[in-house]
Amino acid sequence: MKIAVIGTGYVGLVTGTCFAETGNQVVCVDVDQKKIAALRSGKTPIYEPGLDVLLARNIKEERISFTDDLTKAVEDALVIFLALPTPAGADGAADLKYVLQVAEQLGSLITTYKIIVNKSTVPVGTAEKVSAILSKRLSSSLFDVVSNPEFLREGVAVDDFLKPERVVIGTTSERATKIMADLYSPFVRQGNPIYFMDARSAEMTKYAANSFLAMKISFMNEIANLCERTGANVDWVRIGIGSDQRIGKRFLFPGIGYGGSCFPKDVLALNLTAQEHEYDFKLLQSVLAVNTLQKKRLVQKLSQYFDHNLQGRQFALWGLAFKPETDDIRDAPSVDIIGELLAAGATVKVYDPVATENVRQLFGDQLLYSESQYEALQDADALLILTEWSEFRNPDFEKIKRNLKAPVIFDGRNVYALEKMKEQGFHYESIGRSSIN
Ligand code: UDX
Repeated sequence: MKIAVIGTGYVGLVTGTCFAETGNQVVCVDVDQKKIAALRSGKTPIYEPGLDVLLARNIKEERISFTDDLTKAVEDALVIFLALPTPAGADGAADLKYVLQVAEQLGSLITTYKIIVNKSTVPVGTAEKVSAILSKRLSSSLFDVVSNPEFLREGVAVDDFLKPERVVIGTTSERATKIMADLYSPFVRQGNPIYFMDARSAEMTKYAANSFLAMKISFMNEIANLCERTGANVDWVRIGIGSDQRIGKRFLFPGIGYGGSCFPKDVLALNLTAQEHEYDFKLLQSVLAVNTLQKKRLVQKLSQYFDHNLQGRQFALWGLAFKPETDDIRDAPSVDIIGELLAAGATVKVYDPVATENVRQLFGDQLLYSESQYEALQDADALLILTEWSEFRNPDFEKIKRNLKAPVIFDGRNVYALEKMKEQGFHYESIGRSSIN
């Protein structure tokens, strides 16, 4: 099948590459010519495990190409995916300007039947808005607009795309249903479902999924905070409740709050949708409020330990990305934590396997940067763990003790077992577990 993907950001690139991998002919379109030139030579602008190998293979096999020529890409394609940014505007609502602009352009380019598929996370009713724009110039027999939200997790996006737990497709057109079912059938051969529904329900599904997951995290963060006060251990509580299949084992890890390009933005946007419809979504507002507070907890603990005076202290930060296996720092708790430490007059030395450059762009010479996890510890009063990268899981504890000024760890991701920390003689504070002195 011939496919055009408009927008070569994170979602567009993974989508285009994975469709090429299953034998489709894919053209990726972007206005950024530098990016197009880099992609043509197989360079991915993002860090996503497995993507570069797949991209190189499909470029070589000539199943994927890159262009800034929208006209040509649209002419050849049967299915056109919109994977455009929908940044949060000043009020937090998703800004649809890129999606609607491209819809206007498509209206003057389409001459034969096309399916326009929206992959971006967009408020309920957007498919209808795109349809209305196209209808200004085109007869309704020339297009269908479909909502097809993505559920890709950064770090495992290729796998999520190739083996989705479900595919959601919002359309009531029989013609589009058949073509979309054909396109996605190679990805659901293990028997996972493709759910066809109306576009509004598909759009809402995406927000409901992300908000529910964010709610699970905020709930566990609250339970963890209460565990600390009651002397319970959240590790046990998590396992204890997670084995109930109605709850599920996944997404029950407490920490320093959820971050990333999706949860914070989507929870905020859904709350705004609720407000627009004069619905007071109390639970969602609490999810937001809990997350804002949770991002502050680690610095609060640190501050308490140092008698509420961090002035002149130095701290080593392990992990900056909003989660492991990505270089993404959008809405990462680390960014807030760094801001607070700097504001309190502390010196901050950071290490992350891949996200350091992105943090450097944000903080420049306000921070000290380290090439190695152990070097970051030198002259530091304490180590703070902010992302649970695998390489932090079983470090050389003797080396940590030798390099730090004192054996003190504040762990925002519960990476270490309490017994181990006791055995090693650290002062160790984590989330939802008693501290080791
Ligand atoms: C998320 C959704 O999982 C995905 O389906 C959607 O399409 C996009 O948004 P992503 O943003 O890549 O994916 O990250 P995810 O793995 O969901 O983690 C989000 C945040 O929650 C991270 O900051 C992570 O550290 C935090 N988290 C996750 C927890 O604090 N505890 C958990 O148990 C799980």
